[in-house]
Amino acid sequence: MSSVPTTSAEIREAYLKFFEEKGCQRWPSSSLIPDDPSLLLTVAGMVQFKPYFLQQKHLDDRYIGATTAQKCVRTNDIDIIGTDGRHLSFFEMLGNFSFGKYFKKEMCAWAYEFSTEVLKLEKDRIHVTVFTDDDEAAEIWEKVGVAPDHITRLGEDDNFWVAGPTGPCGPCSEMYYDQGPEVGCGRPDCAPGCACDRFLEYWNLVFTQFDRQEDGSMVPLAHGNIDTGMGLERVAGIMQGVVSNFDTDILRGLVGVGERLSGKTYGTDEKVDLSLRIMADHSRAITFMVGDGILPSNEGRGYILRRLLRRAVRHGRLIGIEGPFLKEFLDAIVEEMGPVYPEIVENKALIEKVLESEEERFSRTIDMGEKFLDDALEGLKEGDTLDGVTAFTLHDTYGFPFELTAEICAERGINVDKDGFDEEMTAQRERARAARNDEAWKGFGDIYTHILDTHGATEFVGYGKDDCDARIIDLIVDGKIVDEANEGDEVTVILDKTPFYGEMGGQVGDTGTIFNQYGTIEVKNTTKPEADLAAHTGVITAGTIRKDDNVHAEIDKRRRALIARNHTATHILQAALVKVLGDHVKQAGSLVAPDRLRFDFTHFEPMTHEQILEVERICNNVIMSDAPVLTYETSLTAAREAGVTALFGEKYGEFVRVVETGSFSKELCGGTHVGHTSEIGLFKIVQETSIAANTRRIEAVTSLEAYKYMSTYEEELRETARFLKIPPLDVCERVVKMQKQLDEYERVAKRNKKIAAEGSFADYIKAAVDANGYKLVIVNMGEGGSVQSMREGWDIVKQRAQGKPFALVVFAISADKGTPIMLAAGNDAAVAAGFNANDVIKQVAPLIGGGGGGKPTMAQAGGKNAEGIDAAIAKAKEILGA
Ligand code: SER
Repeated sequence: MSSVPTTSAEIREAYLKFFEEKGCQRWPSSSLIPDDPSLLLTVAGMVQFKPYFLQQKHLDDRYIGATTAQKCVRTNDIDIIGTDGRHLSFFEMLGNFSFGKYFKKEMCAWAYEFSTEVLKLEKDRIHVTVFTDDDEAAEIWEKVGVAPDHITRLGEDDNFWVAGPTGPCGPCSEMYYDQGPEVGCGRPDCAPGCACDRFLEYWNLVFTQFDRQEDGSMVPLAHGNIDTGMGLERVAGIMQGVVSNFDTDILRGLVGVGERLSGKTYGTDEKVDLSLRIMADHSRAITFMVGDGILPSNEGRGYILRRLLRRAVRHGRLIGIEGPFLKEFLDAIVEEMGPVYPEIVENKALIEKVLESEEERFSRTIDMGEKFLDDALEGLKEGDTLDGVTAFTLHDTYGFPFELTAEICAERGINVDKDGFDEEMTAQRERARAARNDEAWKGFGDIYTHILDTHGATEFVGYGKDDCDARIIDLIVDGKIVDEANEGDEVTVILDKTPFYGEMGGQVGDTGTIFNQYGTIEVKNTTKPEADLAAHTGVITAGTIRKDDNVHAEIDKRRRALIARNHTATHILQAALVKVLGDHVKQAGSLVAPDRLRFDFTHFEPMTHEQILEVERICNNVIMSDAPVLTYETSLTAAREAGVTALFGEKYGEFVRVVETGSFSKELCGGTHVGHTSEIGLFKIVQETSIAANTRRIEAVTSLEAYKYMSTYEEELRETARFLKIPPLDVCERVVKMQKQLDEYERVAKRNKKIAAEGSFADYIKAAVDANGYKLVIVNMGEGGSVQSMREGWDIVKQRAQGKPFALVVFAISADKGTPIMLAAGNDAAVAAGFNANDVIKQVAPLIGGGGGGKPTMAQAGGKNAEGIDAAIAKAKEILGA
């Protein structure tokens, strides 16, 4: 490392090291999916520390605070991204955090020290802002060496920081770097806070003193805290002597990828530059979002991802890149940032597949969508508004996120009716809701939180034991805690300890009995309404059960054994899928029940029959190898280092449980498993289907269910063989042969029918009479004619007359199963001679009590009165002049 950090990697390391030396603990970046329902994405370094600010969690005492390089995504400024050099959707925030141990005085001094002594910024170029009435901060800055005329006071908009609607927040002080009067607006009064580029905010120091409540009120925290965030890309810009983030090392490399793909040069055309910048920025956001487990969807963070991805794809096309290209960006990002963020290396195969499939999906509709939008925009002029229904169709049919439509429209100065679009979306959601007809979950509110707070966690003894003595902590009937319950009551029971596994991680809950000398509860299910609390639900089948009773709890061992077989089989299946299909396979959901298992995973096309057989073969080999299944606890870091499969996008605590199946699979899992793989007996895949874009589902059975499944199929085969009087293994060959024969018979039968029809129509033609200048055939087909046979007959007759100069007319009548039908038809020559099928039918149909019509060349009618057939023929003859 050179003495002054210049590259992004050097700056990142210098920052973390500086604060480590001050006594902070270095923490890894947290996931972009925050543990925080008030936020969709991680927007700042402080997000993972919220519980520490609120004193719900405490840092290791040996440290005075924490320091991180945090990946962040912010999309509130998405429209600006690319139009200037400062705004990014994805950025790295270098942060340090104190929870009461150091505050303003220390922080300002360190920030100045880092800026002037590590980064060696010129003192005269450093400016700071403080919150309007924060005299203390202003004084501290002066003391550390900032000239008074380099200190600006700003109001709440600039100098009060909040992460979201609620949570830790406080007044802040920002550090700015003066990029020089030649950059920016040039106004003499230009100062920090001006919208231009001259003063670049590079570090925000928040003095976190409040916890903002839902009603907006500010509850003071126990002591002053520190939350600071320095934009790595901005500092890289300063250190590399460039004004725009897009000229810094990492981002310039990505702009270069766009240049290479499009053959365009950055800096020659403002429109091209915009697209190059958007692609460089968005490609990082989408890479890291997918790397943290976000998949494109139409909701929440999945929608933000889709929006960014499609925006990047469109800009690629705007500058002439053909075909999928995001992979090229992914390669560059992984190479550059993978050493710091291993998750993008680990998940590269999956990220690549997701980008590829989403890009392909969008490419299929983007041209049609743009054409559709072009048509809709035709006739609209600047200032006009595009209707909401069109925007909705673009979204629904062509996959254009609303914002993309709005952006394209804005390029032409046209607005989009957002309210109208929202109305359409709401209507669609209503329709979907009505169609789903979900049974609403009837929860018990926060009764379980209360129980957990009062009595603590349920101790789970079920890994080693099937039964244990326990005490009833609480009894719940109809959502209320009661002191006792009697025979027939549906109850939920909370025990101090339990052998019952509560439904979790796809594994269904245990059943069994809880009893003592006074009463018995038949447990029908066990759930985990809170992470550490097991709730046993069932019915009292005898006697009375009271709160505080001592009881014996015993699970249904046989059922549990079946569940364990399926659970271990699910692990083996996952490892086999990775082997056969590739590293992009990640678990997307699972169900482990006594009679079956279901495994959902990321994969982008149907599995072939051979792949399914191969996976099945591998699984059964592992089962037959009788490999031991071991479980142990370890630290998350050790597990990751050992390459243990974790649930994609899932967050784990510091200690985790690892389940190892021989040397074949290692997974983090809290479930119950067999001791040796041979206990699973047999593994059989029943079905492989798609459940969502990018997600496949395998349903499988093991042990006795697999035996039953195979027996049913075998019996079916034997039955068929008995019927055919051949050995079972000849059935397929025989059926193929029979089908071929059948096809041949059908072909012959069809041909014979045609010949017969042609024969009889040939007879009819022979019987044609001359009338009104055309040859006329009047046929009574009797019972059994159908509209179709009449039409076919006419086709034959017409073909025969083809090329001959005479005009030809057919009038056919029949009683189709007692219902009279008739057809009149003539060739073009007949129509030229004055024949009109429609007129004929209109006049004759009433005689059979019906109606109909058609064209001059052909018309037909059906009626109710078969007795009128003779009269109808007579009428037809009269009209047609026979
Ligand atoms: N949380 C503050 C910010 O994001 C400082 O880290 O600006």
